[in-house]
Order: sequence, then structure tokens, then C-alpha cells
Amino acid sequence: MKTAASLLMETNDASQDAEAVFKRVFRTDYTQPGFAVMVLAAGTGSYELRHHMTVLKARLSELHTARWGEGLEYLSMGRFDQQNTTRLHLDGAPERSFLMLGYEPTRVRSDFHIADFTRCAHDLGMSPAEFLRQHNPMFSSGAEMLRQHLITLSDWHEDRSRIVVINNSMAAPDSFGSTHGVLHGASISCPDPTASRVINSTMMAPARFATCDPAMHVQQFLSTDAISGQILS
Ligand SMILES: [Fe+2]
Repeated sequence: MKTAASLLMETNDASQDAEAVFKRVFRTDYTQPGFAVMVLAAGTGSYELRHHMTVLKARLSELHTARWGEGLEYLSMGRFDQQNTTRLHLDGAPERSFLMLGYEPTRVRSDFHIADFTRCAHDLGMSPAEFLRQHNPMFSSGAEMLRQHLITLSDWHEDRSRIVVINNSMAAPDSFGSTHGVLHGASISCPDPTASRVINSTMMAPARFATCDPAMHVQQFLSTDAISGQILS
């Protein structure tokens, strides 16, 4: 298991770092980690965090268009207050999809886990989908197989707003537009019912996977004070 504080990117303007995020997340080989964590300036509040998220998404969409000829669209947007431990998993989404999470400052400590399951599958001569069918760490000893491919972030500036972008894909490696996904999970050893831990969650995918026009939902996502609701799905 590796602890990788060096993977944290400190930033004052997430969109300025979009190219670095794109390189890390939209990877076509295994030299990049498949995810990016940005730590925003101290004092960055919830509305500003969400603004950074949408501006970064727009820039990533431009870069995706330049590379693969189509932009990225939102599939879901929501805000949640949760302190559950989650085992390593992919979120339910198309085979080419990307998760952007905006963590608000909290006093609840957590460990954030990423497992490079596509690399593990590649080393075993399997497709990512085949690996998950046979060794899904939600249900089997797959977690043990992923031990060599696990990164854990602890003490990752939970007092600051953070943006995490995760490649949630499991497309066949030789298919058009395929990039290499990773699994994610989190462990919270000491939940605190008196504290909040708000995560702004958006899922995006190439336009061919989009099912509705998200424009009005983006405005709602940026301005709402509601929590624990799916704004668009
Ligand atoms: Fe998830």
C-alpha cells in the first residue's frame, strides 16, 4: 500500500490546472495515476468550490473534444452529507465515465483509496470488465489482488475544499476513446454524528452517453443549499 501525499495538487484556480488534471485522469497508459486531487485555497467556500468544479469540467470537456472529437456532458449532479465507509468500487455509469467530487471542509477524518484495477487486469491478461466480473473487491478476494495497485491518501487537507477527479471507466482498452479507469473507496474510522461531511458529486461522460440537457441543472447545482439530493440523473 502506498501513501502518496505528492499526488495532491495545491491550486488557487482549478481551471488553470486542467491540462495537468486531464493528463493524470484521461490516461491511455499506466504511467499516470488515473485520478487527480486538487486542494483549493484556504477559505474557499461551498459555492466557490462548486464554481471551480463546473469551470474545470468545461475545460476538461474542451480537452476531451480536442483529443476524441466530442465533449463531456453531465450525467448526474448532487450533494450529499455522508460518513459511510465504502469499499473499492466503480460508480454505476457508462463504460467511459468520469467522476468529479467536491469535498467541503470537515473535521471528520477519512482515508481515500484508489486501486488501479485496469493495470491489474492488464497484468493478468484480462479486460477490465472481465477482472471485475471475476475479482470485484466488493464481493470477493479481489481486494487482496489489488493490494499492489492501491494508493491511500490520509491526512489530505480535510480542513480545505478539495476537488477529486476519478477515471470511472471500464471500456475495453482497444476500443475508441478508451482510457484506463480506477476503483475508489473511502474509510472513516471515527464517524462523528455532530459533524457534517458534504460531498458535491458529479458524473460526466462523452456526449454520446448523455441522455438529457443538463444546462438548467448546472445552475441549480451551483446555487442550491439543499443536501442529500440527486439534482440530475
Ligand atoms: Fe463511489
